[in-house]
Amino acid sequence: MTDPAHDAETLRERALTTLTTARARTTLLTSCVEDPDLTAQHSPLMSPLVWDLAHIGNQEEQWLLRTVAGREAMRPEIDGIYDAFEHPRAERPSLPLLPPTEARHYAAEVRGRVLDLLESTAFHGTRLTEAGFAFGMIAQHEQQHDETMLITHQLRKGPQALHAPDPEPAPLLTGPSEVLVPGGLFTMGTSTEPWALDNERPAHVREVPAFHIDTTPVTNAAYQAFIEDGGYDDDRWWTAGGWAHIRQHSIHAPLFWRRDGKQWLRRRFGVTEVVPPDEPVLHVCWYEADAYARWAGRRLPTEAEWEKAARHDPAGDRSMRYPWGDADPAPEHANLGQRHLRPAPAGSYPEGESPLGVRQLIGDVWEWTASDFLPYPGFQAFPYKEYSEVFFGPEHKVLRGGSFAVDAVACRGTFRNWDYPIRRQIFSGFRTARSAGDV
Ligand code: AVJ
Ligand code: FE
Repeated sequence: MTDPAHDAETLRERALTTLTTARARTTLLTSCVEDPDLTAQHSPLMSPLVWDLAHIGNQEEQWLLRTVAGREAMRPEIDGIYDAFEHPRAERPSLPLLPPTEARHYAAEVRGRVLDLLESTAFHGTRLTEAGFAFGMIAQHEQQHDETMLITHQLRKGPQALHAPDPEPAPLLTGPSEVLVPGGLFTMGTSTEPWALDNERPAHVREVPAFHIDTTPVTNAAYQAFIEDGGYDDDRWWTAGGWAHIRQHSIHAPLFWRRDGKQWLRRRFGVTEVVPPDEPVLHVCWYEADAYARWAGRRLPTEAEWEKAARHDPAGDRSMRYPWGDADPAPEHANLGQRHLRPAPAGSYPEGESPLGVRQLIGDVWEWTASDFLPYPGFQAFPYKEYSEVFFGPEHKVLRGGSFAVDAVACRGTFRNWDYPIRRQIFSGFRTARSAGDV
């Protein structure tokens, strides 16, 4: 059985393209501001941008040059500095970080050697080299940090440094606001996607009872109705933990929002603008998403419901790679890859909709689910426990689908993201669901 998309030469080319795309984005994110903004810490939640830059190079060196190719460490003294587990983000600015010029030079030197290695590595033989997995993993890692760095840019005070065209206005949505996903078995996760990460594996069958799910993510207008209805002042809508959190931190609206008389303004990459009513709400934490859903008489979808809505093809009774089918994401399918610096209006990307008509499952905003981040049955940590395994448990909630800030290489129908339920600097939104039978 040969899948032409998975033959070694296609994958080698894909590795080269995705590594190159990632580096172009990293370069933009670390050259659009002056050096002092690279070494500063813009939020205790984030690393200085120059830490991300050298960490990207260091992970690439460790996995590709040392582990795959068996080379000696280029700069053994810096490994500790760029080990995410040795130093929490808040303390990274006080480390002896490579200054911007040296960090750039180091990352570029690693990359030069990696491109030579890519040409000479057989894409089979070991689990790390099979289908070029380690190269794909490293391209994904860099793109994940490119999203992280974009979050740092959003938190940075100061004038606009990044520019991108806005998405097209959405086509008029005339269909229903929710769809019924029939109950029954579906295959969750993957055992065949060559660059899927450990937590997406293995494929396994789940029984998911019938449910309804929103056709689009919840919009700013809908979320404002929750605010105007006193949603933040009514403990009926909140879990005990959520209520305590919003009280303690005086949270009354999504992060970056500010009330101006009758309207809401938001700050987005250094520009203040009126909150656009038809765009998916962004920068809400899990507690806020959960409270909104309860106020609306609904709930967040479970992770299995989300993936079934995104991947199940009722006609073929199989799981597809993406809502639109098995084709790799193209610009007409989804808002990915920092092509735009905001979500597209709800109802956009009709060509990316699922067979049942659910839109924008991929791209735009990460979607909070009701579920804790837990391993699938048969999970095996690979290639390191610190990617997923150490984060499994009830303290992290799963987000699905990717945002406008994540690249296609790091976003799949099976891709799992996770964070604490209080986090909202991430590009997070949500959609709601209800069990079939519930009115
Ligand atoms: C999967 C986004 C939660 O940024 O903490 C980057 C990705 N892991 N380097 C994170 C990651 C190691 C991870 N998330
Ligand atoms: Fe990392």
